[in-house]
Amino acid sequence: MYTQLRKIIFRIGPETSHILVIKLLKCLRCIPFAKSILRLAFSVRDKSLEREVLGIRFKNPVGLAAGFDKNAEVVGELDCLGFGFVEIGSVTPLPQSGNPRPRIFRLPADKALINRMGVNNAGAKAVIKSLHRCRRRKQIVVGGNLSKNTTTFNVHAPADYERCFALLYNEVDYFVVNVSCPNVSDLTQLQDRDILTQIIDRLVNVRHYRDDYKPILLKISPDLNTAQLDDIIDLVREKGIDGIVAVNTTVTREALQTPAEKVEALGKGGLSGAPLAAKAIERVRYIHTKTEGQVPIIGVGGIMTPDDAVNMLAAGASLIQVYTGFIYNGPIFVKKILKRLKQEDSWTQPLLP
Ligand SMILES: Cc1cc2nc3c(=O)[nH]c(=O)nc-3n(C[C@H](O)[C@H](O)[C@H](O)COP(=O)(O)O)c2cc1C
Repeated sequence: MYTQLRKIIFRIGPETSHILVIKLLKCLRCIPFAKSILRLAFSVRDKSLEREVLGIRFKNPVGLAAGFDKNAEVVGELDCLGFGFVEIGSVTPLPQSGNPRPRIFRLPADKALINRMGVNNAGAKAVIKSLHRCRRRKQIVVGGNLSKNTTTFNVHAPADYERCFALLYNEVDYFVVNVSCPNVSDLTQLQDRDILTQIIDRLVNVRHYRDDYKPILLKISPDLNTAQLDDIIDLVREKGIDGIVAVNTTVTREALQTPAEKVEALGKGGLSGAPLAAKAIERVRYIHTKTEGQVPIIGVGGIMTPDDAVNMLAAGASLIQVYTGFIYNGPIFVKKILKRLKQEDSWTQPLLP
């Protein structure tokens, strides 16, 4: 059914259809029993799918990656679609509109997207209001993905991350420091050791004065070379960062079916979806091996089929996230993955007692 619906959705521009989907999900709030029906249709509850990672209990290991529900508008509805967790954001201290449109493009031949959204979001205070509205019962685990405002120079970036972190501290279950978005100029330079250390130190300091402990993860780019990745892994261990989200979108355009001149005409942006899968899995496997499985990894990038999900978990991810796969496969995708994971015994994640 979604294949037919997708034909219609894909006739509309990607950003417009995204806005429509968010509106549609919001409308469900006004329809009696709509959420219960969705839950019945899309959720898979099974003890074998539950995970305890980062000190948090997840009802299943499949999450929605950052960028879909940037402003935390439909967290409750996404819960009904079967996700085990949702990562909101990226959130910046002040609202910002992002890059000029058009800024997101579909590459159907490659099952991929290119986006240069530029971290458009309503700002931390509005996101908190939105979270209060849609998450009264706190059923689903929510991660807060943090970034800096585009107008903030990198030297002042630590203050931006700190501000967002402090504002959102009581609202989400874990945090992700996004220093890997290729669509904000110079943001990926924040993966350099010195500035990253300053950011992490500030967040850890804020957390020190709080009663409850919220895990801090780092989201990395798939375009880091091995030396840079090793540097990040060292920093993660030294600073006691709780985990790594691997990976964000890539700036590379390797082995695409879409004609090169067409891709080039779309301009700059981060590539996501199927072409990212091999790189993402390779990065997850590398981190898992290098850290001897001591650092929890959220594996994301190019998960387009239930088999991709199994492979990502087998590479060492404790949890996984999807974005482009959700766009191409529709709401049934999560259920398909969960049903596959239920049967799967070739990967060994610690199950809950
Ligand atoms: C339209 C779009 C917007 C995104 N926005 C963000 C963002 O704001 N912050 C972030 O950390 N990642 C963002 N991402 C990256 C995704 O969270 C994910 O890391 C990436 O798309 C790879 O996963 P996928 O291949 O399953 O899409 C975005 C991706 C897309 C396609």
